Amino acid sequence: MNTFTYRYPVTVYFGEKAAEKNLPVELAKVGQNVMLAYGGGSIKRNGVYDELINLLKVAGKTVTEFSGIMSNPTYAKVQEGARLARENNIDFILAVGGGSVIDCCKVISAQARTEEDLWELETVLRGSPTGFIPMGAVVTAFGTGAEMNNGAVITNETKKVKGPLWGAFYDFAILDPAYTMTMPMSQVISGSFDALSHCMETYMGSPRETNLSDEINEACQRNIIRNLRATLRNPQDINARSELLWAAAMGENGMLKIGKVTDFQAHMLEHQLGAYTDCNHGQGLAVIHPVLYRHMLPEAAPQFARLAVNVWGVDPAGKTETELANAFIDALSSFIREAGLPTTFAEMGIPADTDYKAIADTTVLTGGCCRKFTRDELLAVLLECR
Ligand code: NZQ
Ligand code: ZN
Repeated sequence: MNTFTYRYPVTVYFGEKAAEKNLPVELAKVGQNVMLAYGGGSIKRNGVYDELINLLKVAGKTVTEFSGIMSNPTYAKVQEGARLARENNIDFILAVGGGSVIDCCKVISAQARTEEDLWELETVLRGSPTGFIPMGAVVTAFGTGAEMNNGAVITNETKKVKGPLWGAFYDFAILDPAYTMTMPMSQVISGSFDALSHCMETYMGSPRETNLSDEINEACQRNIIRNLRATLRNPQDINARSELLWAAAMGENGMLKIGKVTDFQAHMLEHQLGAYTDCNHGQGLAVIHPVLYRHMLPEAAPQFARLAVNVWGVDPAGKTETELANAFIDALSSFIREAGLPTTFAEMGIPADTDYKAIADTTVLTGGCCRKFTRDELLAVLLECR
């Protein structure tokens, strides 16, 4: 096992009426001026906004609203939020939404407390922000697990890069499955695939022999597959929804990564695809994964074979390791089709003239991947995905 340090700073309030039960106590601990940050308005249509604004009023807070945080949040939106936070002396940020709102606020919380350009500080000078506005998250869309970590995926439109910036951890996260019931089904599916992808990307890192983190990981993958199927059969199944909500959080709260160097090559490729096309994250991953995995098969066969048997229930009798590894990719591909996820970039509406060479040339090559991809090979993967 690798050496590790594990610390987990986020308090999670999970379950029915989690906001009503816990937000008053948390709000009592924070300052007067609260920024309520959200996306394009789903929370106004499904009643979550009314519930939260009422709890903020009862707590006597002065509320500044910051809305319109888009999917794949931009660095410009971060700056807009940071300016608003400074102008209104914000003491606390309540981020309400999916990964996009939750990520955007992580960086706003840091940018509002410094005049330094955070993109420059983190990606060029390799420094880290030190001051943060405290934050709480209310999750309305599951998948990313963003509420459980301090990484934010931000699109810098000027530089044409979608990449990580490090912000603060949330002090608490509210996960009420009822808040996710109005998610569009396409987002339920793409979010679930994103969660499955996080598990697979972690699993495919090293060490590559069986270990406790990977055995827990296999259980998470089985859980996501089973509960997405249950949700497809019955979208009103709140128990399946709540399992998906927690499984997604497990994927990104560090538990599965204990003692591991993770892979995340599919994510790095998808993020740059997003920088160029603003595509849906989970859908991009669904197209990329099987193609990338076929390229990784020679090196990844032992892990793929384990996934075939332990996650996808393939009978190993009479099969070679390579046959099992292929059976894993076949099972994954057929699940993608079963869930109605896209299998090509064209199905996602990505234009044929997209500059795939530029995407391959700017993708981060990960250290944990069992195959060291060249840029030419990543380009080949992208072209096969068209
Ligand atoms: O903006 P609104 O109107 O709220 O609508 C959103 C949005 O259109 C809608 N939605 C959310 N909750 C809803 C709802 N609609 C109805 N009812 C609800 N309860 O869903 C749409 C998608 O939301 P978004 O937050 O963009 O999706 P997701 O959670 O998939 O987040 C994607 C972003 O997270 C990044 C992705 O790259 C992408 O930028 N990621 C962040 C990670 C992290 N920090 O750990 C890890 C991931 O790998 C990922 O990269
Ligand atoms: Zn992801």
